[in-house]
Amino acid sequence: MKTIYFDNAATTRVDDEVLKTMLPYFTENYGNASSIHFKGQEAKDAMEKSRKIIAKALGAKTEEIIFTSGGTESNNLALKGLFFWNKENNTGKDHIITTKIEHDCILNTCKWLERQGAKVTYLDVDEEGFVDLNQLEKSITDKTIVVSIIHGNNEIGTIQDMEKIGNICRKKGVLFHTDACQSFTKTFLDVKKQNLDLVTLNSHKIHGPKGVGALYIREGIKIVPLMHGGGHERKIRSGTENVSGIVGFGKAVDIANKKNVEKMIKLRDKLIEGILKIPKTRLNGAKEKRLCNNINVSFSNIEGESISGYLETHGICTSTGSACASHSLETSHVLKAIGLPPVQSNSTLRISISKYTTEEEVDYFLKVLPGIVEKLRRMSPIK
Ligand SMILES: Cc1ncc(COP(=O)(O)O)c(C=O)c1O
Repeated sequence: MKTIYFDNAATTRVDDEVLKTMLPYFTENYGNASSIHFKGQEAKDAMEKSRKIIAKALGAKTEEIIFTSGGTESNNLALKGLFFWNKENNTGKDHIITTKIEHDCILNTCKWLERQGAKVTYLDVDEEGFVDLNQLEKSITDKTIVVSIIHGNNEIGTIQDMEKIGNICRKKGVLFHTDACQSFTKTFLDVKKQNLDLVTLNSHKIHGPKGVGALYIREGIKIVPLMHGGGHERKIRSGTENVSGIVGFGKAVDIANKKNVEKMIKLRDKLIEGILKIPKTRLNGAKEKRLCNNINVSFSNIEGESISGYLETHGICTSTGSACASHSLETSHVLKAIGLPPVQSNSTLRISISKYTTEEEVDYFLKVLPGIVEKLRRMSPIK
């Protein structure tokens, strides 16, 4: 049976070109980027080339990119790093503003920071998942350190208005951080035009390797490190750099292109249109400002888990929530925040495509799905 992988928001297949670029950094160019001999310099040059590519993609300076182990670490580093710098320097600032629809690695960092004395505001969103900009503006006080708002949501695909949020933050004199793991290379992201001060990125959502990411930190912003050691990455993130991973990350960014985004938009819209032909279905998230690869739909009266299970018997991998939340039985905090009652939340399926998705895969999915939904609804005790 052919596999149809529709869970690209969880992770993506490494591009063959990315893998090819990485391989020599395991076997031939295996130097430590901190070593001053030529083997070390070889590794350092490759790493710096990647840093340059990533910085350019964001409109940032090369030195403003810090390599990390991924999105989780970058988000932790941004928020904990800023909070503890303010604490150490007795600035009197202890307030963080975020939203109710962040990835767990932001929300759980914030919950932990609250136990360390931080005050956190969790902003509401509307039914499409957009942040209330008035509430944001009103929430900023003279104690606010940073506003941290996810760019493209990992569950419902809503893309926030970075320009407007960035302008509010700049006007009010607070820092603006965004988690751009899902949106990077898929939609416009520019640190200058959007007034971004810190940006979280990772590699495995864009056909690069797992376990590597980056944090953009605007020049002049001070944060304390989480890792103490040899002072790698401008003393902000100690630890021997994952050179092969970083090389792969750079390559993945380098080969990302608009054509693939346009292809995904077409297939995404075909999927949405086809799925919504099934009675009693509802699209969650933004109608227009939506990630090119995200489809999130609720099917009344049946469980998302059951649909996903039946789809798997046809070789199709989908998800019912974010991969990180799927091992818990709790209903999605994102769907709750957009006002979906628990019964609807539990009947939700996330389909996330990639540049490798084909029209044939989409057609096959749209052929098998209605029958599965009909069968499950027939079996369902809820009518
Ligand atoms: C929006 C978002 N932020 C952060 C992460 C965590 O990134 P990583 O898996 O690289 O730690 C993910 C991926 O699961 C994500 O989708």
